[in-house]
Amino acid sequence: MKEKIVVVDDDVMSLKIVRRVFERAGIEGQYLHSGTELYEYLGENNIPDLFLLDIHLPDVNGFEMLKQIRTDAVYRNIPVIFLTGDDDIKTETAGLHAGAADFIRKPFAAEVLLKRVFNTIELNRLHNNMAQEIRVKTEKLSKIYLQIVQALAASVDAKDKYTHGHSTRVAAYSREIAGRAGFSKSEQDEIYMMGLLHDVGKIGIQDSVINKPGRLTDEEYASIKTHPEVGAEILKNITDYPELMVGARWHHERYDGKGYPDGLRGEEIPETARIIAVADTYDAMTSNRSYRGAMPQQTVRSEFERCRGSQFDPRFADIMIQMIDEDTDYHMKED
Ligand SMILES: [Fe+2]
Repeated sequence: MKEKIVVVDDDVMSLKIVRRVFERAGIEGQYLHSGTELYEYLGENNIPDLFLLDIHLPDVNGFEMLKQIRTDAVYRNIPVIFLTGDDDIKTETAGLHAGAADFIRKPFAAEVLLKRVFNTIELNRLHNNMAQEIRVKTEKLSKIYLQIVQALAASVDAKDKYTHGHSTRVAAYSREIAGRAGFSKSEQDEIYMMGLLHDVGKIGIQDSVINKPGRLTDEEYASIKTHPEVGAEILKNITDYPELMVGARWHHERYDGKGYPDGLRGEEIPETARIIAVADTYDAMTSNRSYRGAMPQQTVRSEFERCRGSQFDPRFADIMIQMIDEDTDYHMKED
């Protein structure tokens, strides 16, 4: 592949010398005499491998040209080498600070010019390839992470024959509430994962208890109530995502302090867990049970009115009420 290099220099002699060196080396050059010509070139969307810029030009100086190149998304990552007659350390430092890849002083030896130019191009290619590879790998890893979390959530939901898709719906409602509450995109993604895994502790509870159709004995109820701690215990092993266990451990806490397992109250309960609590209760009311279908939307709405400030953080209960009011056809329930 032939290297494409744009050279800008108002000194005709100097431009000629560079041209001769480049042509002998098989480089495809564009030889321009001024900043104006460079700007015209940039407007045409050609993509070179390198810019070789003289610093002192009559119309635009090299630093300004560099700045222009760096602000253009098309050219931002293309390396710039300054070419100058300056025997001045200050200019050189300023050039490097401004983002130049290298600095070549005139007069130069042909070999030094070529070596530096090729090195810079090669380094930039390696850098771009590596950045691209990291992007691809990171995307792949996040996808695997999501799929593993989804698989784990599905295994919890499979255990409970009455609550199909509970974890996924709680995750989606939690993300919606967080979004409306002004959480950032990455915080919303995080709470989605927390929502998916909030009930993961149910893996540790006996199937016969989870699926018991009638009333639970005190002992059975006590065993169900251990699922937040069991879940937190499971998730604490994922040390790179410590937030995952937050939703599992505290989604049954109540704003008035009467929840479990820790009886935390108000702001003591992590914000994300307060959101999941709202989403979780909403889904419990709006999904089908063995003994009933989804509760009527108005009943659900009044429950949030009634329990805002007692069971729920009023701020997130209000957002839920707003979501209910916007859902005029009552889509937001288990199918
Ligand atoms: Fe739960």
